[in-house]
Amino acid sequence: MSVPMARRIDSMRPSEIREILKLTQKPGVISFAGGLPSPELFPAKELAAVTAVILEKDGASALQYAPTEGHGPLREAVAARMNAKRGTRVTAEEILITSGSQQGLDLAGKIFLDPGDVVLCESPTYIGAINAFRAYEPRFVEVPTDDDGMVPESLEWILETERPKFVYAIPDFQNPSGRCWSLERRKAFMEIVTRWSIPVLEDCPYAELRFEGDDLPSLKSMDEKGLVAFLGSFSKVFCPGLRVGWTAADPEILRKLVIAKQGADLHTSSLCQRQVEAYLRLYDMDANVHRICDTYRVRRDAMVGAMDREFPKDLSFTRPRGGFFLWVEMREGMDARAVLEKALEKEVAFIPGAPFFPCGGHENSLRLNYATMDGPRIEEGIARLAGGLREV
Ligand SMILES: Cc1ncc(COP(=O)(O)O)c(C=O)c1O
Repeated sequence: MSVPMARRIDSMRPSEIREILKLTQKPGVISFAGGLPSPELFPAKELAAVTAVILEKDGASALQYAPTEGHGPLREAVAARMNAKRGTRVTAEEILITSGSQQGLDLAGKIFLDPGDVVLCESPTYIGAINAFRAYEPRFVEVPTDDDGMVPESLEWILETERPKFVYAIPDFQNPSGRCWSLERRKAFMEIVTRWSIPVLEDCPYAELRFEGDDLPSLKSMDEKGLVAFLGSFSKVFCPGLRVGWTAADPEILRKLVIAKQGADLHTSSLCQRQVEAYLRLYDMDANVHRICDTYRVRRDAMVGAMDREFPKDLSFTRPRGGFFLWVEMREGMDARAVLEKALEKEVAFIPGAPFFPCGGHENSLRLNYATMDGPRIEEGIARLAGGLREV
């Protein structure tokens, strides 16, 4: 039976990652495909303890409907943590708690985009954002991006001919490339968008997962005109299943986001918001983040070391200093989907890079996640993948 549906659904595609993840469910498959944090790092015992206290002392509110903006004490805690870690000066009133930062992306699409509007993004960019924005039928323009971030001259040149509704950027340990923008690029970028008065969505779930080097200031901390909406998340530094993220934005933008969220889910889970707030108050989140970084640093080293040893020398890859992902570019003309077929025969999986480019192309690229598997499995997986690459 064919039923008439909205035109916009035609431009939306099932996430290629989710389709590939189905193939990786088999036991024995070494998967570098998903974006999953390593589950043994979830503080389940501590959460059990705080949950018992919340339900005993505050059960009526924890299980009740609540304001759309979010749980007051959590908004306070998020603003304080963000100011301490990302160099911003936001207040609790500028924070909207969202159901993951993914919801912030969808809400931003909802309030900013009419069909045909232009969105500027990095090249490549996060597939989940491409999919969220696509529902609102924009036209994507990729800004050339290198190891230091968006190239300012290219951005400037594009702005001579395009009027984007916003620029979407992931400056810290980007998904999918693992790249981190340099300080000079951040400054140059903010100078340009400020001069042109272009809103920015700064998507920042990985900045705290830095394995080495100094923290760099967020774009939001350099924002003098209220142009930057900052999307944060507890998914990568805590637990994604709670679905707690936030957007920090200027009051005018925040008010519209709140209205958009009312239509989506009324508010983020009252219980989950309290769980995060209680954990932040009673435990040491920084120690938890350190533990995660220590684990992922070893895994990053295992993957990079194995790739240096095993991979053909005619491909290049990023050496990320934080986050979850590493990006591989094979010789021009090679197709990551053909490599994936071979890899799956050898029970190892990854995500081909092409879907991370909204304007198409780049079939010769792929993304690897080093966060989920332990060192020995990473080394075994890279050896298998190198075998697949040689065959293709
Ligand atoms: C760049 C980026 N933004 C947003 C998200 C969504 O995260 P969440 O909704 O769990 O906060 C992810 C998840 O992988 C991501 O990589």
